[in-house]
Parts: sequence; structure tokens; C-alpha cells
Amino acid sequence: MIKLNRVSKKFGTGVFGLSNVSFNVDKGEFVFLVGPSGSGKTTIFKLLTREILPTEGTIIINDWDIVRLSKAKIPHLRKKVGVIFQDLKILMDRTIFENVMLPLEVAGIEPEESKKRVNDVLAQVGLSGHKEKFPIQLAGGELQRAAIARALVLSPDIILADEATGNLDTANSWDIIKILTDINEKGTTIIMATHNLDIVKNLPKRIIEMNKGNIVKDSKISKEKKDSLHHSHNSKSHDIHDQKSSTMEGEQK
Ligand SMILES: Nc1ncnc2c1ncn2[C@@H]1O[C@H](COP(=O)(O)OP(=O)(O)OP(=O)(O)O)[C@@H](O)[C@H]1O
Ligand SMILES: [Mg+2]
Repeated sequence: MIKLNRVSKKFGTGVFGLSNVSFNVDKGEFVFLVGPSGSGKTTIFKLLTREILPTEGTIIINDWDIVRLSKAKIPHLRKKVGVIFQDLKILMDRTIFENVMLPLEVAGIEPEESKKRVNDVLAQVGLSGHKEKFPIQLAGGELQRAAIARALVLSPDIILADEATGNLDTANSWDIIKILTDINEKGTTIIMATHNLDIVKNLPKRIIEMNKGNIVKDSKISKEKKDSLHHSHNSKSHDIHDQKSSTMEGEQK
């Protein structure tokens, strides 16, 4: 459903945000994207929403070739891919209700239907009592939930959550994770970039680890290799040494 093949992004400054990155994410998966600051997590999200174009490689979402997607089709893509931005991008001069309404206005959904949808998603994230407030009147965790509501309001297939628990205490962070895992259980694919290793360690989900624009570890690939190693051990035990050495090389890349 999401497929990056040998994707590189060289910025105008000469810095490589990503170099030769490939991975697939299936429909309905929940993936943590981890790695130090500057390792390329936000760059991946910007590529997936066509905010930026790659220097090399292909990016496929559903049946769309994102690199070749015509400008006219970008709004369709953005309906399918909801983003919780690292800096939230909540508009300070609009109420929470108006902020969450915005994507529906842009998509041209008629006002009555829009209001219903906004009320539904605000209830889903527990913000019904705050909808007429301005962002400055909300706590950090509540603003994060407003950003989730805005990402959800067009019922996207995919949610990209960029540091959705940044600056939150433990209880609030787990509240946010609960909302995201509930959404995921209803079928939405979620990729969440995070520095919160407490959450990553305690929730058994796929982890893609980045460093300096490269994937240094993908728990799904490691597991598949382990499983196939186990399988071949049972069926053709003489292959085991070859398989083992290729697994080790793969993991060091
Ligand atoms: N518009 C840009 N112009 C030049 N360099 C950029 C640009 N955006 C990102 N970079 C560089 O690309 C690299 C990857 O940045 P990115 O924002 O993807 O990191 P990140 O993993 O999201 O970090 P953080 O955990 O701090 O959010 C960094 O070296 C960054 O400085
Ligand atoms: Mg980032």
C-alpha cells in the first residue's frame, strides 16, 4: 500500500535528508519510525504527502505514483493521507472547531455534513467540551488531540503522526497512543515518528529505525528473515550457514 523504492532526497543545501531508502508498509499496519534528530523521519512524511519531491527513486501509495502525480491530483492524495505535523500547525486565531473544519472546507464538503463530521471526530478524541475554545486556552495534550482530529476528519486511509507525543507527560502520551491504536484497529494505516522510547518499547509494533538518512533496522524484515531461517532450518538444514551469513550482512547495512 505504501512503497518506497531506492528513494533519495538531496536538499538544495547539498544535505541528504534520505539516501537510498526502501520499505513497504501494508494496509492496516502500525509502524514506529525512530532515530536521532536529523535522521530523515519528517523528510519521509513530506515525501509521502508530495510536500517535497525525491531526487531519486519511486514512491507508491495505493495505486498512485506519487512522484508523477499531477498537481490536480494532489488534493486527492491529501484526502487519503492525514498528517499530524511535528509543529501541529494549529491556527491560533481560529477555534478548535474551526481548525478541525478546515480540511473539509478545502475539500468542498457541504457545511451540514462537515459540522457533523467535526463533532464526531472531536468526540472521538475527547474534545467535545473544548470545541469553541481558542488554541491558547488548551493544554499541550489537548492541542495534540485537536491535531489528531484534524488529521482524521477526512477519514484517511493513512495517518502520518510526526512526534504526536512530543513534550507530553507519560499519562498524556499514552492517551494519545490509545487514540491512535484505536484508529489503527479500525483499519487505518499509521506511521508514527517518535523519540518516545518508553512507548516504542512497551507497544509491540513494527519499528523502522533511521540514522543519517538510512534505514538501519526494520523489525519486520529482521523477523521475516528469522522466520525464514527457522523454516529453512526445519526443511533444508544444509542451507543454514549461507542464510545466516546473509542475514547478518543485511542487518548491518
Ligand atoms: N528544507 C530543508 N533544507 C535543507 N535541509 C533539510 C531540509 N529539511 C530537512 N533537512 C535536513 O535533512 C535531514 C533530515 O531532516 P528531518 O527533518 O527529516 O529529520 P528528523 O528525523 O525528522 O529529525 P527530528 O527528530 O529532529 O524531527 C537533516 O539533516 C535536516 O537538516
Ligand atoms: Mg522531524
